[in-house]
Amino acid sequence: ESASRINGIKSTLRIISDFPKPGMLFSDITPLLLDPKAFKDTIDFFVERYKNENISVVAGIESRGFIFGPSIALAIGAKFVPLRKPNKLLGEVISENYDLEYGSDCLEMHVGAVTSGDRALVVDDLIATGGTVCAAMNLLERAGAEVVECACVIEVPVLKGRERLESRGKPLYTLVDIV
Ligand code: PRP
Ligand code: MG
Repeated sequence: ESASRINGIKSTLRIISDFPKPGMLFSDITPLLLDPKAFKDTIDFFVERYKNENISVVAGIESRGFIFGPSIALAIGAKFVPLRKPNKLLGEVISENYDLEYGSDCLEMHVGAVTSGDRALVVDDLIATGGTVCAAMNLLERAGAEVVECACVIEVPVLKGRERLESRGKPLYTLVDIV
């Protein structure tokens, strides 16, 4: 049953306060990866939701989005496109800067990896303020794709990333809330 599988996933997560900065919450997903049932349940929730949605591209956000995105892409028959931190991709890229809770960062995507007509799913491990997934959506939309949804394992509701996406008219799907 779905609620007990969600609880199983949640019970594996290690939540640490005041890391990496005072007042911040860090959610360590590595214990989830050590539990094959919880890891498979996580992937299966996303595959069930997206397998019949004609998704043509799964865009995974470096670095922890790379842990979940490719398995989902393979299972639903979509291509996988890595959205990387700056200066990692060879050749021509487009870039999006974004703000973090502290500081700023940038994501890049290969020109030509995504084209108009693509239907995209954005995958990451966690949504906090939503700045990261919004930068990912900007890259995909600049390339002409339609972003169908953003999917993250974990949501930090107090940071209101969901509202930020809803204000852009984009749905968010998450499995576990942390407070
Ligand atoms: C973390 C997390 C998300 C992002 C969420 O990544 O993995 O990608 O922050 O924050 P936001 O919703 O406020 O933008 P981080 O930038 O720490 O890098 P990492 O995945 O490479 O560890
Ligand atoms: Mg990340």
